[in-house]
Order: sequence, then structure tokens, then C-alpha cells
Amino acid sequence: MSPARGGEGEGGERLQKVLARVGFGSRRTCEELIAAGRVRVNGELAELGRRVEVERDLVEVDGVPVGVLPGLVYYLLNKPAGVVTTASDPGGRPTVVDLVPAEPRVFPVGRLDAATEGLLLLTNDGELAQAVAHPSHGVDKEYLAEVEGEPAPGALRRLREGVALDDGRTAPARVSAPSPGVLRITIHEGRNRQVRRMCEAVGHPVRRLVRTRIGPISDRSLPPGAWRPLTISEVRELSRAARPASPAGRRPR
Ligand code: URA
Repeated sequence: MSPARGGEGEGGERLQKVLARVGFGSRRTCEELIAAGRVRVNGELAELGRRVEVERDLVEVDGVPVGVLPGLVYYLLNKPAGVVTTASDPGGRPTVVDLVPAEPRVFPVGRLDAATEGLLLLTNDGELAQAVAHPSHGVDKEYLAEVEGEPAPGALRRLREGVALDDGRTAPARVSAPSPGVLRITIHEGRNRQVRRMCEAVGHPVRRLVRTRIGPISDRSLPPGAWRPLTISEVRELSRAARPASPAGRRPR
């Protein structure tokens, strides 16, 4: 197949300009990416001079779709306790949306309980948000839970293998005890108050819960209440992690 050239007519923007805007480097660097055959548009190898319609064309670099729509933003927030994960709270409590820029409007990806602290993504990219939060091909999330008492090996095993909750048994989880009374729990599902309910079910109610990782995204230096934009490579890694895996390509958890 011949390389994709020119787009249709003279509409759209030059590919190197679009790639530069979303952070792949200078236009010159982006031209080199294209010349090196690392960029595809709608599945076809792109060549220099290619124009794209950002609303319509699928741009991939090294096989990873690139969010090229102007105006898409991705924030990583370190949510403090007491802030609710909604756009507006009838009770007047502060919301996560109050902690990030008002424009463009963004929404939280999934939710953390009001008492839970830690990492939360906010974006106006509905497609990526849906993929990240999807229960079957979404990304895993890691939590540190300070719990009551000292969980015995049997409790850790139950958490790992799955515990019966009132909405069904939990899927296998990764669980370790990095220090006394603290559990590191990685789950893939996103049921309501899941970690708290799991810990309670094995006799160790949670005192404090902090989300420390969302798929490939973590940040130990972001202070509570602070946010930062995701880097372009974080957006790429996240979209790679959230893509549905083919059954043959699915990694064991
Ligand atoms: N699990 C919980 O119990 N609460 C959260 O906020 C997130 C996961």
C-alpha cells in the first residue's frame, strides 16, 4: 500500500504541526518521526506533507493512538480527604473539580470516596476516561490501606483469592503487607467502596486509604490538593494500558 499522503483536498492541518502541538517535540523532530515511518494515519503509513483532520483521522505513533484533538486536557490530582468526587455536591462540600482549572470543563475518571486520598485523573477526553474506567479492560489501581489490627497470612490470602461481598465475590487481587497494619492492594475492578469492604470482610476495617497508582501513573511528590497535567508520554502509556487486550495478547495478572 502506498504511503498516506495529503489527506483529502487541502483541508486539515499538517501532521508535523499536530504532533508538535501535542508534545512530540519540535516540528522538525516530528518531521523526522514521520520520515522514519513511525507515524500512521487511519492505519496507513504517513509521509511528509500529510494533512490530517483532527476530528476524524486516527493518528498513531509507534502503533499507539495519539489524542490529537485540540483542547483535550489530562490532570493528575492528589485528592485530599473530605473532597467529593463529583462535579457539584448538593451538600456544599468541596469537589475535586474545584481543585483544578475551571476551563475547559473536566470530569473525574472513576471515583474515590470522600474519605479516600490519593491519585485521581480528571479529563475532558471521554474516550480515554471510559477505557481507563472499564471494568474488564480498564487499568489496575493500587491502594495503601492502613487497617485496624495486624492481618494474619490467612487474611492476606483471602484478599488475594477474592472475598465474598454482598455484590459478589471479588476478583483476585495483588496484596502485600509492606509494614505492620498497612496493606498494599492492587485491584482491577472498581466497585463501590471495594477496598474498604474487602478489608472489613476479613476483619480489618480501613482507617486510612490512599490510592497510589492508576495503571502506569504514579507520583509520590505531588502534595495533597495539588494537580499537574499528565505528560504526553503518560497519556500515551495510559491509553496503551487501557486498550482492550486481544485474548492471545492478554497479560496474566
Ligand atoms: N476502594 C474504596 O473502598 N474506596 C475508594 O475510594 C476506592 C477504592
